[in-house]
Amino acid sequence: MIPHPALDPAFASCPDRTGTGSEKWDRWQDRDIIPVWVADMDFRAPPEVLAAIHVRVDHGVFGYTHDPPGFAASLAAHLATLHGWQVDPARIVGTPGVVTGLALTARLLADPGAAIVTLTPVYPPFLTLPGLAGRRVERVPLLQGERGWAIDFAAFDRACRDAKLLWLCHPHNPTGTVFSRSDLLAIADVAERHGLVVVSDEIWSDLVLDGLAHVPFASLDHPAARRAVTLTAPSKTWNLAGLSCAAAILPDPALRSRFRPAGGGLVPMVNPLGYAAAEAAWRHGDAWRRRLVALLERHRNLIQEAVARIPGLACAPAQATYLAWIDCRGTGVADPQSACEAAGLGTSDGRDFGAPGFIRINAGCPTDRLEEAIRRLTRAFTRA
Ligand SMILES: Cc1ncc(COP(=O)(O)O)c(C=O)c1O
Repeated sequence: MIPHPALDPAFASCPDRTGTGSEKWDRWQDRDIIPVWVADMDFRAPPEVLAAIHVRVDHGVFGYTHDPPGFAASLAAHLATLHGWQVDPARIVGTPGVVTGLALTARLLADPGAAIVTLTPVYPPFLTLPGLAGRRVERVPLLQGERGWAIDFAAFDRACRDAKLLWLCHPHNPTGTVFSRSDLLAIADVAERHGLVVVSDEIWSDLVLDGLAHVPFASLDHPAARRAVTLTAPSKTWNLAGLSCAAAILPDPALRSRFRPAGGGLVPMVNPLGYAAAEAAWRHGDAWRRRLVALLERHRNLIQEAVARIPGLACAPAQATYLAWIDCRGTGVADPQSACEAAGLGTSDGRDFGAPGFIRINAGCPTDRLEEAIRRLTRAFTRA
């Protein structure tokens, strides 16, 4: 049975991260600012994962390591159980990050100067990586509604005409949108019409809320799905981002053999502790994950209630992730990020996602901390 999230001891408290080199906590270390920006949570990883890391440490040898035999098998089993998607483990390749995987696909699947299409607002590397690889970003703004975000298929179709690659963020960071099967099929139709390869970043797919289903893009019965690349990782769900372990699912054997060499001496191997953690999370982490989802639904609702109380704020409820994407333009506050920081709240600035006037809040923390964050959010926009 899932404990009531308010009473779940796994999420009631968390370690102090001061002095651990935490990117999240060090950013405003000398100020009274609660950091709710970068997407890691403050919780300890599940005991099953910690135990597997301990076992690997006790082995005591940490030489150069490639994908161990259980890595692909455990991910394939996880995808089959949770998302009903049967993947041949031979298609799975370890990579030290989903961002690394995206960067490699830019180089492998789009010519220099070519356009990579993406739905905006979006996780900042989707906007910066193409340029770093000598490619271009073609932005297609999502349509904002009170209850959710939708794809402008006419604009999407136009943007795809001259492109080679679509980077899909599914579920979508920062809006928390879970694209439906019919959305995905419509995306696949456009991709097929214009000969695009879809790269689907599904790093958030295990944190879908409200009993909604995540449909992996590559699981569709569609020609565009059969050549799609999927990127995923256990890092968001089980809070393992610092262990640098992710996976690419590459159906094309030629692409698979070119994937690692494309790193060209710049991309390191995955480390042995990352592999140990990933395998344990995929094999044994589901009960903890379900308890986390119950907590995140509650946290999402707390944020929605707060936003409804603060004049000028708007936020379509997230269907996935532990993120809230808040439109502050109705408050008349010119710089919402600065206003939040002044009120003691370290949000992510919408400008980094291509959306000035928005902020993003990370609710992956104990409830009492989130409640204090909400008080500060209220203060930021009701002072004047
Ligand atoms: C959509 C998305 N992709 C990728 C990442 C980062 O992945 P990694 O740490 O494996 O590079 C994040 C982190 O927040 C994310 O939100």
